[in-house]
Amino acid sequence: MSQRKLFVTTALPYANGKFHIGHIMEYIQADIWVRHQRMQGSMVHFVGADDAHGAPIMIAAEKAGKSPQQFVGEIAAGRKEYLDGFHIRFDNWHSTDSKENTELAQQIYRDLKANGLIASKTIEQFFDPAKQMFLPDRFIKGECPNCHAKDQYGDNCEVCSKVYSPTDLINPYSALSGAKPELKSSEHFFFKLSDPRSMDFLKKWTASGTVQPEVLNKISEWLVPDADGKTALGDWDISRDAPYFGIEIPDAPGKYFYVWLDAPVGYLASLKNYFDKGGARAAGESRSYEDFIADPATEQYHFIGKDIITFHTLFWPAMLHFSGRKTPNAIFVHGFLTVNNGEKMSKSRGTGLDPLKYLSLGMNPEWLRYYLAAKLNGRNEDIDFNAEDFMARVNSDLVGKYVNIASRAVRFVPGGKLVAGEPLAAIDPAALVGAVRGLYESRDYARALREVMAVADHVNTAFDAAAPWKLAKEGQGGEAAAVGSWCLQMFRLLTACLRPVLPQLAGQAEAFLQCDALDWTNAAQPLPAGHVVGGYKHLMQRVEEKQLDALFEVPAGEEPSPQPSPAGGTGSDPGGEPVAPSITIDDFLKVDMRIAKIVECKAVEGSTKLLQLSLDVGEGRLRNVFSGIASAYKPEDLVGKFTVVVANLAPRKMKFGVSEGMVLSASHADGKAQPGIYVLTAWPGAQPGMRVR
Ligand code: MSP
Ligand code: ZN
Repeated sequence: MSQRKLFVTTALPYANGKFHIGHIMEYIQADIWVRHQRMQGSMVHFVGADDAHGAPIMIAAEKAGKSPQQFVGEIAAGRKEYLDGFHIRFDNWHSTDSKENTELAQQIYRDLKANGLIASKTIEQFFDPAKQMFLPDRFIKGECPNCHAKDQYGDNCEVCSKVYSPTDLINPYSALSGAKPELKSSEHFFFKLSDPRSMDFLKKWTASGTVQPEVLNKISEWLVPDADGKTALGDWDISRDAPYFGIEIPDAPGKYFYVWLDAPVGYLASLKNYFDKGGARAAGESRSYEDFIADPATEQYHFIGKDIITFHTLFWPAMLHFSGRKTPNAIFVHGFLTVNNGEKMSKSRGTGLDPLKYLSLGMNPEWLRYYLAAKLNGRNEDIDFNAEDFMARVNSDLVGKYVNIASRAVRFVPGGKLVAGEPLAAIDPAALVGAVRGLYESRDYARALREVMAVADHVNTAFDAAAPWKLAKEGQGGEAAAVGSWCLQMFRLLTACLRPVLPQLAGQAEAFLQCDALDWTNAAQPLPAGHVVGGYKHLMQRVEEKQLDALFEVPAGEEPSPQPSPAGGTGSDPGGEPVAPSITIDDFLKVDMRIAKIVECKAVEGSTKLLQLSLDVGEGRLRNVFSGIASAYKPEDLVGKFTVVVANLAPRKMKFGVSEGMVLSASHADGKAQPGIYVLTAWPGAQPGMRVR
C-alpha cells in the first residue's frame, strides 16, 4: 500500500486567553492520533494556529491599551510552554492574522463569488453612537423580553435561556459605552447556504462518512426540510463593518470578513506557511503546498469540540467545495471536559485544572495524557477529570501494572542478557498489536488501553505463578532468567502499544531495552536471544495525594487533619479500642451494606451534630437518613458523593424524623483526644444499590 499523506489540525484557539485544560485535552487527543499514524508509516503534517481576529479580541486589546497585533502576539508567545510541557508536537503553529490567511481567504471568497454563491443585502443593526461602531450581539445588553431579567446579553437570556435577537431587548444599551444603541442599516455579504446547490451538497457530504453518527444526528435539524419544505439553514452573514480586526473583503472598502469566515482558512494558512518554510520538505514531502492540498489522495482531518460543529460540518466544507477545493475527509468531534464534576469550563474563565500549575507542581504530563486517553472513546461525549479516579488509574494501572513489569523482571536477567524460553501465557503479540492499532485508528483510546492493561495483568499473573525468585533461590537461575526475559519482551510489546499516549516514557523504555524505536511493524517481533538490555532506572513515579491537593488547593483547615496519638506507643488498641470478638461470615452477611449516592444534604435545625441526607440506594426512591457528622462536613461537601449505608437497619424514629439507615464513617474511640469523623466513600465506578461485601 502506498504511504498515506495526512493533514491534521485541531481547532484554532481564540487568541484572547491562555490555554485551559479543555484545549489541552483536544491537543492530546489529536497528538495521540498523529503519533499512531506515524507508527504505521503515514506521513503527517499536524498544524495549529491562533484564531486572532474578531470584535471580542479587538475590544479586549483596546481595554488592555494594546494594538490587536501586539495583544495576540503576546498570547501566541505563551503557547509553546503548554505544548512542550504536555508533549504535544505540532509541526507548525501560525496565526490567522497572517499574509497567507489574507491571501487564501480573499481567494476563496472570490471563487465563491464567481460561482454565484455570494449575495449582498442591506440589514439593520444596532450601532453604538459613542464608539461609532456596529455592536456584536455579545456587546448589547438589556432587559430580557421574556422574563424581564435585567442586564442580559443580546442573543440569549442567562436567566430563562430564551433565544432572541438584540432588537428584541427592552431598553438596550451598549456594553462598551453604555450608550443607547441606534438602529442603522448597512450592506452585508452572505454566503448562500440556502441555495439548492449548497443544500444538495451538504446533505450528501455529511452523509458520506465524514462525521460521526451522533454528530450527523445533531446537524440533520439544519438539513432536513420541515412540513413546508423549508430547511433551517439560512444564508450566512460573512461580513462586518469597520472598525474590525480582520481581513478586508476584496472590492468592498470598509467591509471585513466575519471572524468565522477566515478562521478555518487558517488551517490552510498554517499548512502553507509550513510548506513555504520548508517544514514539509524536511518531513519528506517534495511537492508544493498547492500540489499537496489539491491531490485527491491527501487526507484532511480536523479535531474539534462539540460547540463548533456547524462551522466545521456545514460552513467549512461548503466554502471549500464551492470554491473548487478539496473537502475534509472527516471532522472528529469530541465532547467537553469537566473537572471534578464541575461545570463545563467557561471559555473565558477557564476554571478547574490549570495546566501550567499542574506542570509547575512537578506532575508528570504523561499521567494526564494517560488518564485522558483512558477516557476518550472517539465519540462526541463529555468526560470528567476526577482527582481520585486520576490517581487510581495512574497508580494502579499505569505504574502498578505496566511500569512494574520491567522493574520486577529485570532483576532475574543476569547482565541484562535475554535468554530464550517458552511463553508463560498465551499472549499473541501480533493480535494485540493489530487490535490496538485499529482502536487508535478509530480514536477509541479507552478500549485500546483496556486491552493493553488486560495483557499487563496476564503478564503479572504469569510472573507471579512462575515465581522466579523461588527458582533463583533453588538454583534454577536459568529458568528464572527465561521468566524475566519473557516479561521484558512483553514489556516491550506493551510499550509499543502505549507509545502514542506516552511518548517520553516509551523513549526511556526503548533506551532501557536498547531496542529500535517501536512502531506497528516491529512491535510484535521479539528481541533476539542474547540481546542485552541496559540498566533499569525507575521509569515513573506514582501520583501523590498531596500533589492533587495542591493542584486543586483545598484550603488548609477545611478538612479535619489527623493528630498524633496520645498513647503514642505501638501495640496499643487500634483506633483506641480493642477489636470486637470474632463473628462468622453469616453474622457479617446479616448486615446489608449498600452503595448510596448523597443526592441532597442539609443542616438539621436545632441540632449541631446531625446532617440530614437524602440517599439514592438504587431503589427508585430516596431514603432519609440522619447522621452525626455535622462537625466534620458542610452539607455542600457531601452532595454528589458516594458512600456506604447500612440498608437493613430497622428504621429509627428520632426527634427530627425517621432515619432509614446508617451512613458508615470512621472515628477514633476517644473523640476528645483525637477528634475527626471520616465518612466512607466508594471507589469511582460503584453504583447506587451495589452491595458491599
Ligand atoms: N476560535 C474558535 C475555533 C476556530 S476553528 C477554525 C474556538 N476557539 S476556542 O478557544 O473557544 O476553542 C478551541 C477548541 O477548544 C474548540 O474545539 C473547543 O470545542 C475546545 N474546547 C473549549 N472548551 C473545552 C472543554 N471544556 N473541553 C474540551 N474542549 C473544549 O472555538
Ligand atoms: Zn429571560
